[in-house]
Amino acid sequence: AAHYTGLIDRYRDRLPVSDKTPVISLNEGDTPLIRLVNLPRELGIDVEIYVKYEGLNPTGSFKDRGMTMAVSKAAEEGAKAIVCASTGNTSAAAAAYAARAGMTAFVLIPEGKIAMGKLAQAIAHGAVVLQIKGNFDDGMRLVKEVAGEAPVAIVNSINPYRLQGQKTGAFEIVEALGRAPDYHCIPVGNAGNISAYWIGYSEACGKSTASCTLYSGAENCPYVNTAMTDKRPVMVGYQADGSAPFMRGAPVENPETLATAIRIGNPQSWDLAQAAVNESGGWFDEVSDDELLATQALLARKEGIFCEPASAVSLCGALRDVKSGLIPAGSLITCTLTGHGLKDPDIAIRGQEAVQTVEAELGAVKAAILAHI
Ligand code: F0G
Repeated sequence: AAHYTGLIDRYRDRLPVSDKTPVISLNEGDTPLIRLVNLPRELGIDVEIYVKYEGLNPTGSFKDRGMTMAVSKAAEEGAKAIVCASTGNTSAAAAAYAARAGMTAFVLIPEGKIAMGKLAQAIAHGAVVLQIKGNFDDGMRLVKEVAGEAPVAIVNSINPYRLQGQKTGAFEIVEALGRAPDYHCIPVGNAGNISAYWIGYSEACGKSTASCTLYSGAENCPYVNTAMTDKRPVMVGYQADGSAPFMRGAPVENPETLATAIRIGNPQSWDLAQAAVNESGGWFDEVSDDELLATQALLARKEGIFCEPASAVSLCGALRDVKSGLIPAGSLITCTLTGHGLKDPDIAIRGQEAVQTVEAELGAVKAAILAHI
């Protein structure tokens, strides 16, 4: 098989790139779709659930799919610097792809509210890190303002190339399953990714969607020609209950959640996400921090899959809706696990008494092992 060189090369005919686009890639995409085996059995639920493990992208989140497109197009347009506001993952991806492209990345992060792994990535890749005394929504506003005043290209998901790259997650799922799932469950923060998946699923079955015409301005989606499947999934978007503007029906002024990746009160892709849910017959719902942390731990302990807290929101909501019957028995469900658990080590070890200290001596180690068998 040919060497895999990233999603732009893989899906070139379905993306807005040309021979003149310099491809800035770290071989992102092609992530595993893993079927859950232990959890459905233990919970006694009769559904086929798969997780799209986006934590296995080069910088550990789905943002790499959007960033390869955004930075490649910025390079094509001659940009020397990029800018984003971020709860951490976008800044990590921006920093890495800017390094690859030989550009400068400026990242605005909310003071004290990003996970340690993500901050480490921005620093490691040489981004200029601007910690602002405000939250993500403040950062987003500032990025839009400053882009008019300084020569920097915005690489947040309001950049339409981001969603183009991210729609490939849906293509990969359809290819892996040989069909679209019945339900696709996904965490919602700034609301770009749910919009991107809906564009991807729509294009994959040859249908146009308001999400894609809304942002491209065209009457029809430009890439609907390839019919890979004859139906689209129901899209279900989950938020943390302290940061759930879609449940409130309005922006939330002071969003709070331990899942800092989705600590967002004023999602930029509101209309696109709403269109995805409406057109697909889906819904939004919210889960508590306790529930999402419990799901993160369950997935790690029962299936060997470590995702970050914000990512667990999708599976958390899906399991609840299966138990309540809202998602019927026999359904095929996919959940996007947006980021790797290693991003946020503080949360993972918080409150855990999993480490014991023993003497460096055979008797002590043997006794410690036998105590658990
Ligand atoms: N999950 C993770 C791990 C994220 O980092 C994000 C967004 C989301 C889910 C939500 O996706 O915004 O497209 O609805 N993180 C952005 C960032 C905001 O700055 O890294 P969305």
